[in-house]
Amino acid sequence: MKLHIKTYGCQMNVYDSERMADVLAPLGFVLVDDADEADMVILNTCHIREKAAEKVYSELGRLGRLKERRKDGGGGLILAVAGCVAQAEGAEILSRAPYVDMVFGPQAYHRLPEMMARVGQGRVLDTEFPEVPKFDRLPRDRDPGTAAAFLTVQEGCDKFCTFCVVPYTRGAEYSRPVADVHDEARRLAGRGVREITLLGQNVNRYHGEASVRGGDWGLGRLIRELAGIEGLERIRYTTSYPADMDDDLIAAHRDVPQLMPYLHLPVQSGSDRVLAAMNRRHGADDYRRLVDRLRAARPDLALASDFIVGFPGETDGDFRETLRLVEDIGFCQAYSFKYSPRPGTPAADSGDQVEDSVKDERLRDLQDLLGAQQLDFNVRCVGRIMPTLLDRRGRRPGQLVGRSPYMQAIHVEGPDDLLGTIADLEIIAGLNNSLAGAPAGEPAGATLS
Ligand code: SAH
Ligand code: F3S
Repeated sequence: MKLHIKTYGCQMNVYDSERMADVLAPLGFVLVDDADEADMVILNTCHIREKAAEKVYSELGRLGRLKERRKDGGGGLILAVAGCVAQAEGAEILSRAPYVDMVFGPQAYHRLPEMMARVGQGRVLDTEFPEVPKFDRLPRDRDPGTAAAFLTVQEGCDKFCTFCVVPYTRGAEYSRPVADVHDEARRLAGRGVREITLLGQNVNRYHGEASVRGGDWGLGRLIRELAGIEGLERIRYTTSYPADMDDDLIAAHRDVPQLMPYLHLPVQSGSDRVLAAMNRRHGADDYRRLVDRLRAARPDLALASDFIVGFPGETDGDFRETLRLVEDIGFCQAYSFKYSPRPGTPAADSGDQVEDSVKDERLRDLQDLLGAQQLDFNVRCVGRIMPTLLDRRGRRPGQLVGRSPYMQAIHVEGPDDLLGTIADLEIIAGLNNSLAGAPAGEPAGATLS
């Protein structure tokens, strides 16, 4: 049986899709790249903004027609919708798309084998939150086949930012036990993974229990522990909440060489008034001070962020505060979005919605500034030697693509045997979204200043 999984949205969905493939492998499913070849298709969906959710229904329409054609030819296709749209709109999917066989939320993946057994007997809907955390029953047995992998350590969120669906779709905050995380990281390293990105919607809220040595562990302590794993050369984590950045985690940026000098730290807005209305629990100056402390611990730390423009009630003055914050900090990379009202979240009901044309204008101005900062950061890398994890082939023959310590994509001409290794590259060009590199002449001892 052939399985195709199409993944939308965040890195956690990427991780979840891999786990679903692991759960289905013992039932005889092998992954294929093309939905048209598959016996079963899972859409792993994202609900964060309206556009993301809409994409799912148009893709479902296409797959519904494919299923019809198969039926005419005497064949079949199992269609499943997973992820956050499934969690939020399960019943609606079943009524809008009658050809869908299964709908299940992010907390039900470990129940897939039971659900599969029920497929022939009627349509399946599972959006329950589990009593036993799903991770206990999600195997990680397949070879990841890459040198960089994701590892979910924390899931869910209790922050309830007033624009965000995550606390509703992913549920309450949960941290995996230290021993489980350690075990999974060790296995990945044993299979050639050199870089791990620890994932969580609020990853720096991590507070796993260590059954052997007892007590509650924060993310800083977890990172120190993982840094002891042989072969694991790089550690990253995403996404963090500014108010949960504790002293120990900041110190880990100073003390742990494997922890990469790049941090994605969403701020959303530079206006205290808007931040309060978003229920963000930090002001703009709190963010500035936090960045100062992080840079004191790790002077070459590069910062990335997320922004929302046109949050209900946002004035021109509020928006200028956001631009001022961006100028003060200097980001290496950022994601920015127009506010998208999400059903069931408090901000969606505000009478103070900002006009779309105003959102467009603000988004353009913000992206111009962020784009210029990113290009400037990339250009300043030219001439430096950067250790680069080469983890995939490029589009052109003979081209490899890797990641710098600062998460920049680096393209280089090089032999295939460099794949999966960390090579020192000299940066020869800095572009808007990537760097070009060449093998460095004198790799030994080369470091980043
Ligand atoms: N901590 C989370 C962040 C959730 S969503 C994580 O796992 O990454 C990612 C980003 O989407 C947020 O930081 C925010 O900038 C944006 N976002 C969330 N809800 C949104 C909405 N309703 N409209 C526009 N952007 C939104
Ligand atoms: Fe969403 Fe805010 Fe949590 S952005 S994921 S509610 S920290």
